Amino acid sequence: MTNKKPFFYDITLRDGNQALKKPWGIKEKEIVFNKLVELNVNGIEVGFPSASEMDYDACERLAKIAPKNIVISALARCVKADIRKAVDAIKDAPIPRIHVFMALSPFHMQYVLNKTPEEAKEIVIRAVKYAKEEILKVNKNGQVQFSAEHFGDCEENIDFVTDTLKEVVKAGADVINLPNTVERYRIKPLVDMVNKVYEALPKDVVIAVHHHNDLGMSTASTVESYFAGATQLECSLNGLGERAGNTNMYEVAVALYNSGVELDLNLEKIYETALLIAQMSKVKIHEKAPLIGSDSLAHRSGIHQDGAIKTKGMKKGAYRAIDPKLIGRNDDEIIGFTSQSGKTAIYEIINQAGYPISVDEAIRISPHVKKEAEILGEVPVNKIVEIYFRELFNIAGPFEFLSFNMIEADTFELRFNYNDEYYDIKGIGNGPVDACLNALRKVGFERTLSGFEQKAVDADIMGSGASAISTIHILGKDGKDIIGRAFDKNTARANVKAIFNAMNLAEIED
Ligand code: KIV
Ligand code: ZN
Repeated sequence: MTNKKPFFYDITLRDGNQALKKPWGIKEKEIVFNKLVELNVNGIEVGFPSASEMDYDACERLAKIAPKNIVISALARCVKADIRKAVDAIKDAPIPRIHVFMALSPFHMQYVLNKTPEEAKEIVIRAVKYAKEEILKVNKNGQVQFSAEHFGDCEENIDFVTDTLKEVVKAGADVINLPNTVERYRIKPLVDMVNKVYEALPKDVVIAVHHHNDLGMSTASTVESYFAGATQLECSLNGLGERAGNTNMYEVAVALYNSGVELDLNLEKIYETALLIAQMSKVKIHEKAPLIGSDSLAHRSGIHQDGAIKTKGMKKGAYRAIDPKLIGRNDDEIIGFTSQSGKTAIYEIINQAGYPISVDEAIRISPHVKKEAEILGEVPVNKIVEIYFRELFNIAGPFEFLSFNMIEADTFELRFNYNDEYYDIKGIGNGPVDACLNALRKVGFERTLSGFEQKAVDADIMGSGASAISTIHILGKDGKDIIGRAFDKNTARANVKAIFNAMNLAEIED
């Protein structure tokens, strides 16, 4: 097993780019390249110089601006002309690497390359030797990587492949890459094969993996390959690449980080990078994409919402893989209310909207929001807020508030109905709340005030012109906290309306 730091090798500019509907030109490649430098990847494959003149020029340009510590590679088939072009294109990089590849799987050698295993072996050894000689002629830091394309299909001839790779190393390869060019089978046998090659080769040879994601398992096979001896992990930004893509760098990095592996990557750059790449590649991020999808921090079931809220702000969350800040995401976990959600969601949503609510109140309005959810699906926040005001700010009961006016500094006139009986009384007190409660007490409606607060809110509440909510707490039966809330442009009236809501609620609850 390895104890070496993972070496993140980015292949977005080559494998990712070759799969785009409109491949990038030099300008776009340079933007992505600079982002990769910010991410602090260890190596970058800048292109395939034989693919086009534009790709040759891009490779040449990026090699020239590469920082000292980043390996720069260019791809070449095992043919002299390709190797020469790759050498010419990237010779000015501080650490240039020529990346030659050929399939060694029985199927590919027979049906695509039309070569016997012996012929293939000879070709790859010759190519690696040539590449190493040529790159060292022009740059003393030059390296060679050999990729045994379709390594994942080599279970039946793994001994031949291992022997060939030993020869390839003798011929000068510094890195042996073991691609799962098409993901068709299970992870475990593939990882065992990676480990077999790692054990068979000298320990100063770097083992790389390069897995495609045809069955959605490439993150897992890359992560497990690391623990089986592969230190160079070839990944792409946003998982761009042929067909279902290459291995997604963010997922591998986070899985290793969560497992306690030290990384060079600046993980906090991940999210901004992902957004940029989606825009530049025109490949949208799926809302369910791990880590970066818009819905990847959303909780809709009551149980998950409860756990998420209880562990909010903690490094480890009950229902999330990471603290979103780790990858530079500033948005928090999303609590969406559907028919599957519960009171905790309402409590959280109303709080986040900036309004006061108690757990008891969340329980009370929950059936009303659920009813809406059964029709609408996820209920928009403004609809939940509307229900909150509708259900909690106008409690129907025997008391009907009519008016409250100041007569003198400490004297108020209160008009109300109780079970259709009309009352018009004066109350004296230290402020409107005291005066109103005293007035009610005079006519036999005694209640003990246990709390009072006024909360300013940002918005004009429900278009009323009010910008504060009055909350009154009175003692109910057995000391139960009864909460009445109200808003009004006139704060004295807001307080009194809150008292009447609490009085009605107390009658219902007692
Ligand atoms: O998928 C693959 O096998 C490749 C090689 C060129 C490394 O991209
Ligand atoms: Zn590939």
